[in-house]
Amino acid sequence: MTNETISVGHVVGHNQDSTSNSCSTNGSSFQRILRRIALFAAVASGCLILLSSINPNKFLSSSFFPSLIRPNTSQVTNDIDPLNGVLRNASMKDKTVILTTLNDAWAEPDSIFDLFIESFQIGNNTRGLLKHLVVICLDDKAYSRCLASHPHCYYLRTNGANFTKEASFMSSEYLEMMWRRIEFLGAILEMGYSFVFTDSDVMWLRDPFQRFFQDADFQIACDIFKGNSYDRHNEPNGGFTYVKSNDRTIKFYKFWYFSRRVYPGLHDQDVLNRIKFDPFIERIGLQIRFLDTVYFGGFCQPSRDFNLVCTMHANCCVGLENKLNDLAILLEEWRRYMSPQPSMNAQYSWSVPRNCSTSFQRMRKQNSGSKS
Ligand SMILES: *[C@@H]1O[C@H](CO)[C@@H](O)[C@H](O)[C@H]1NC(C)=O
Ligand SMILES: *[C@@H]1O[C@H](CO)[C@@H](O)[C@H](O)[C@H]1NC(C)=O
Ligand SMILES: *[C@@H]1O[C@H](CO)[C@@H](O)[C@H](O)[C@H]1NC(C)=O
Ligand SMILES: *[C@@H]1O[C@H](CO)[C@@H](O)[C@H](O)[C@H]1NC(C)=O
Ligand SMILES: *[C@@H]1O[C@H](CO)[C@@H](O)[C@H](O)[C@H]1NC(C)=O
Repeated sequence: MTNETISVGHVVGHNQDSTSNSCSTNGSSFQRILRRIALFAAVASGCLILLSSINPNKFLSSSFFPSLIRPNTSQVTNDIDPLNGVLRNASMKDKTVILTTLNDAWAEPDSIFDLFIESFQIGNNTRGLLKHLVVICLDDKAYSRCLASHPHCYYLRTNGANFTKEASFMSSEYLEMMWRRIEFLGAILEMGYSFVFTDSDVMWLRDPFQRFFQDADFQIACDIFKGNSYDRHNEPNGGFTYVKSNDRTIKFYKFWYFSRRVYPGLHDQDVLNRIKFDPFIERIGLQIRFLDTVYFGGFCQPSRDFNLVCTMHANCCVGLENKLNDLAILLEEWRRYMSPQPSMNAQYSWSVPRNCSTSFQRMRKQNSGSKS
């Protein structure tokens, strides 16, 4: 049983330990069913690709990711939906885009989005990457805020859902938002675009393309990296991924999305931690690599080396205020490192996480306090 070997060491997993172990006993029969679904999906997608080459405007509406067009079908079929145009405008030569999602709470002035954009501006050779960044906006406020400061904004409408407020961690809105992201990213792959997906609480300090593996389909940053980029026991974090568009990744995203039904109530990342061992991955030939935290670090495991770090993620942290506080400190330390005056001590190390490092404990204390 592969399930037994899964480590759930990262912070999200801790909350889920008991429930997830109890449902893994039925996992194999579920997985057989899933595989059938995935096989069907694979056949279906083959047909869709044919369809799409006939009429690209119809493609989204006939996609296997149906809720993308839930809001108003005529918008897409009438070619009013600007997604194609937005992607084309932001694309690199090899059809690669950088994607992030944004909702109102993170889009406020002086909030996460400002720090995110600022990181590109003060990073080493990262400013030019902004012209390839597409901001996927989840509500009106995020969209108007994006339009005011960035050339590539896309409004991903969802009927009935309201992602405006800061969705509290692991609430049903939070889960809905996370799964919608997987669904959307699968659709982007189907449209033939490769992408770097980045949460907007990932600070871009150096060009990550220099550090990606050439031969991988799906590369993902880690909360905890254990030393070997092939090792499935690494603890991935879905907040930073580089995915090449091909048959294997399209199948994989479908498999991931539909695995939600096998593990109800789990976060996309926890589900990834289950399915990363599934034989389905070998069967489709998907090449997975885990990115070293020395280049792609975070508050769970900060990059040890200022001379190598590409990105730093405010992971292992809950609460907008905590993230803002610690990310502002992080950027300040980076600015000092990049400043032209030679510093008296050349030894740089992060002083973060600070408030983030106790944020989970404080949240749990609050929760248990209010319940009892
Ligand atoms: C769908 O979009 C079209 C074009 O924007 C609009 O005319 C129509 O009223 C919309 N329908 C619904 C149900 O929102
Ligand atoms: C793409 O860029 C062109 C030229 O800047 C602009 O006119 C057009 O509106 C853009 N398309 C979208 C969908 O943003
Ligand atoms: C920034 O990038 C340039 C060119 O890649 C390199 O020569 C320089 O050493 C880098 N600076 C730092 C502080 O990493
Ligand atoms: C979404 O939630 C926000 C804040 O809770 C509220 O102001 C807004 O009216 C809601 N929007 C919809 C469409 O329900
Ligand atoms: C961060 O923690 C310090 C001391 O632990 C506290 O004074 C400060 O208010 C906190 N900041 C935020 C934004 O929560």
